[in-house]
Amino acid sequence: MSSTIAQHSASTTQIVRPARSFQGSVTVPGDKSISHRYGMLAGLAEGTTKLSNFSTGADPHSTLGCMEALGAKVVKNGTSIEVTGVAGAFQQPTGKLDCGNSGSTMRMLAGLIASHPGTFTMIGDHSLTMRPMERIRKPLSAMGARIDLVDGHAPMTIHGGPLKAIDFETPIPSAQVKTAVLFAGLQAEGTTSLSEAVRTRDHSEHALKAFGATLSRNGEKLSIAGGQKLKAIEATVPGDISSAAFFLCSALLFPDSNLVLDSLGLNPTRAALLDVITALGGKIKVLMVEEHHGETIGTIQVNRAEELKGAEISGALSAQLIDELPVIAAIAPYTRDGVTIRDAKELRVKESDRIALVAKNLKAMGAEFTEFEDGLAIPGGQQLHGAEIDSGSDHRIAMAFAVAALKASSENVIHGAEAAAISFPEFFQFLNELAKR
Ligand code: S3P
Repeated sequence: MSSTIAQHSASTTQIVRPARSFQGSVTVPGDKSISHRYGMLAGLAEGTTKLSNFSTGADPHSTLGCMEALGAKVVKNGTSIEVTGVAGAFQQPTGKLDCGNSGSTMRMLAGLIASHPGTFTMIGDHSLTMRPMERIRKPLSAMGARIDLVDGHAPMTIHGGPLKAIDFETPIPSAQVKTAVLFAGLQAEGTTSLSEAVRTRDHSEHALKAFGATLSRNGEKLSIAGGQKLKAIEATVPGDISSAAFFLCSALLFPDSNLVLDSLGLNPTRAALLDVITALGGKIKVLMVEEHHGETIGTIQVNRAEELKGAEISGALSAQLIDELPVIAAIAPYTRDGVTIRDAKELRVKESDRIALVAKNLKAMGAEFTEFEDGLAIPGGQQLHGAEIDSGSDHRIAMAFAVAALKASSENVIHGAEAAAISFPEFFQFLNELAKR
């Protein structure tokens, strides 16, 4: 193993047997995206931030590990986390910053630390070392940062120093790139502006405001003035809708299913899945909604109203549903009219090539489909069978095919099932409680 690639956990398998129904009530762990942002901004802020329902996934804990290495103090008590920040001045770490499997950690942290004096080297596991990082170097270099990559990839070394504001248009829809620019802009000289062709998840905008920063939006243009100081907060992280997606899609597979999800994040920039669920034939009742620090949290109940129809997902919708596309694809064969996904080329550069792995596993289960460079067309009316599933060490692939397995004609063996712990360590336990056999 190279010294600049972080270590992997051992591979485990999970056997998933078919179910006859899907019922129950569940609280999914805290949102991964929001946990990253709260963890990072708490690390930079002045004072002690108290977070409850922090994500149990490995990725946001990689972020907390980096915050500690940069001088923040982190105290963990289950899902309650206290972070005492560095009041605007990160320390030079003694070693490399280990981002594990987490693209969010590496990309957003790059923006957060680029203005700090010192040299910061960020490393990750094999998957993270394969992912594109030029998209981060470009805007940060335009702000004056000096960043070394190896052929556009990690390890990423940042030679920190003063930054100047830029006016940036994001060429690819990516909330991580947007966040890196906003975090750098917060600490640059002047006012940084950013426009997105497709509006991506806006957790960074809400989190920055929660920590006391001022941001403005004029149409599609976001602006943030440099030199703003952050103050510690108290917050509860809403449940992760991208984790809930696996259970929402499971509930669609059975005519008599009944699923209640509480304390669930329902931020409109993350909730496009609910529209797809409704279009497919699910019935969603919103039982309660509240707002905390700009984030919508609620309780929803999901039933299946009728025969599952089909869906066509393309354009901006593909970008907004990017993390949910694998599980939508995994249930597609069981719909009546099938599912077509286009404009989702970004799926090829996630924790794995998610288009290729969805195709490989659908094929193993006996499905017919067409693979495109930017998506898949999966006809409906197909009965899948049991198979050996390859997660490719990708959490969302392991979980997506555990869902497909619930409706298969025989049991499936999910190899690399431990990957689920990247975002949702409790997944297989919760799945077994909700799936009625
Ligand atoms: C995330 C943004 C998305 C998403 C990832 C989390 C975030 O990535 O796939 O799981 O928290 O901002 P991109 O920004 O690369 O699209």
